[in-house]
Amino acid sequence: MSEKIKNILSQENFSKEDLLELMKIDNSEDLDLLFKKAYEIKAKYVGRKVYYRGLIEISNKCIKNCKYCGIRRDNHNVERFSMSKAEIMEAVKWIYENNYASIALQSGERQDEEFVSFIEDLIREIKIFSNGKLGITLSLGEQSKETYRRWFEAGAHRYLLRIESTNLDIYNHLHPMDNKHTFEVRKKCLEYLREIGYQVGTGVMIGLPNQTEEDLVNDILFYKDMNIDMIGMGPYILHKDTPLGKEWENSVVSVEKRVELGLKMIAITRIFLKDVNIAATTALQGLDPQGREKGLLAGANILMPTATALEHKGKYLLYDNKPGINDSVEKAKEIMDSNVKAIGDEIVYGEWGDSLHFKNK
Ligand code: 5AD
Ligand code: SF4
Repeated sequence: MSEKIKNILSQENFSKEDLLELMKIDNSEDLDLLFKKAYEIKAKYVGRKVYYRGLIEISNKCIKNCKYCGIRRDNHNVERFSMSKAEIMEAVKWIYENNYASIALQSGERQDEEFVSFIEDLIREIKIFSNGKLGITLSLGEQSKETYRRWFEAGAHRYLLRIESTNLDIYNHLHPMDNKHTFEVRKKCLEYLREIGYQVGTGVMIGLPNQTEEDLVNDILFYKDMNIDMIGMGPYILHKDTPLGKEWENSVVSVEKRVELGLKMIAITRIFLKDVNIAATTALQGLDPQGREKGLLAGANILMPTATALEHKGKYLLYDNKPGINDSVEKAKEIMDSNVKAIGDEIVYGEWGDSLHFKNK
């Protein structure tokens, strides 16, 4: 065990150099120390509590062409679907009856008026159905400020939009230039969301080829600079029908390394930002059968069990070997409940579980 790491972990505040030292930890003893510290900070600032967000993947139609993502526009091997309002409300009902208290609506990106007003009406319907009791998180990509405002006024109050990577070279390598997919626009969207009054979530992909430890530390510093309330981040996973899936087939970072980096990112973000909400993501579980528990033990406090109808689940594949696509919603809940109980955290039902960081501001 190194004195240096011990000393850094005993501090309240951290310099960039400190964060980099932590990111570079390469032995299991120091790693354990890091995770223990992160779990302590979690217990102190947000409690040993886990909140569920029932995730509904409402459509896999997308106008964007992210070079890593399985449902990118130009992947013609995908059977496209959009859930009807009735189907979505069916899932909402299930989430409500199971007392999750928050839903997250996710889909590929669309900006046409038909889609924007569909979502606006849907949000109102969910609010009316649940008597205002269901918290609504959106994860529907880049939109105009006006659209974000319409959805906020309809009743959504949290928004997830990942920055994916704050290293501009990486960002530009991940995203084609042909549809104005720039870092500046993405960042501007996060600013709009904040100005409108959303709790704002972002995150990055971890363990990309050529991504350095310093890049990841810069990502965490970005969360701080942008005063982010919620973090959802996970390891990169290949999808074979994508440009990067092919380009990186032989250069992909090992599974062990990506899982370790994913957990370190959770732990260091928790230690540095303290009272934010951090999700243990499906991608982490995708690379490690114990990914969820390990994520919670490294400082995460949010899980997003999917409530997408079984019929559509297999079509929402951002990456290969996505876990749980054959599990019913009941099964998904059962598995998650037992994962959480196994590590001794409490599942909080019936409360929104807002980001304390947002409340504490
Ligand atoms: N591996 C890991 N994460 C991915 N995402 C999309 N494709 C992949 C992949 N191949 C993530 C992106 C996006 C979120 C919805 O899913 O970070 O923002
Ligand atoms: Fe579309 Fe999101 Fe996939 Fe990019 S990551 S192609 S925006 S669904």
